[in-house]
Amino acid sequence: MVIGVIDSGIGGLTTLKEIIRVRGGGDYIYYLDNARHPYGTRTPSEIHAYMRKACDTLTALGAEAIAIACNTATAVCIDALRKEYSDTPFIGIEPSIKPAVRQGGNVCVLATPLTLKQDRFSKLLTGATFHMPDCTGLADAIEEEYPSLLRAQKTLTKALYSMSDVRFDSAVLGCTHYSYLKEWISKRLNCPCFDGNGGVARQTRRICGEETCAARIALIVTAKGSAPRYLEICRKFTGAYCYLINPQI
Ligand code: DGL
Repeated sequence: MVIGVIDSGIGGLTTLKEIIRVRGGGDYIYYLDNARHPYGTRTPSEIHAYMRKACDTLTALGAEAIAIACNTATAVCIDALRKEYSDTPFIGIEPSIKPAVRQGGNVCVLATPLTLKQDRFSKLLTGATFHMPDCTGLADAIEEEYPSLLRAQKTLTKALYSMSDVRFDSAVLGCTHYSYLKEWISKRLNCPCFDGNGGVARQTRRICGEETCAARIALIVTAKGSAPRYLEICRKFTGAYCYLINPQI
């Protein structure tokens, strides 16, 4: 079974790596929409249009299920996509609020500006006091400079400055790009840190089953000039067999 995975950039590779680990391998097409990055400062109708373009491409290439490895796109339009592509199962990513709330009453939630404005996201915020720093520029810093995370660490340190007297009981990563900083954030805030990757991986295994064949990733990069850099990142980060495909996009 071929599974399509979508994100605005390298963030969703953290999700895909966990899907591969939990399923044991399998065939994937990763749609890396760097030409339109960052999603987090766009409008909902732009995001919906980008998702339709990605889903059209992936289904035309034979994807039988689609994982939206992007919290922003999940919050904005996963319900609409499920209706529009009713033959395709969709797996969305959501911030892991419940396990975070179990740690205590002060939760730091990191998400993109557009995610923070979505009803689907706000409805998850119950059972604790949620502190949400302005993370504008954080996904960009990771997308542009990975494997260096220095600019991202500086951006986040600045965003957290006004909250320096809060003692957080947990942190929630509501953007797949931020998962590259998971350990650093946990140390910096001195609390456990949760992302939604495990939930997506288990749900993908439930819907698509396990695999015994080695993982293979066909990579689509919409910013064609950057394709070699992304192929290298995809190979190194996932450890899977990766190759570039260039359909008409
Ligand atoms: N990785 C995405 C997310 O999970 C979006 C980052 C961006 O493009 O702003 O929300």
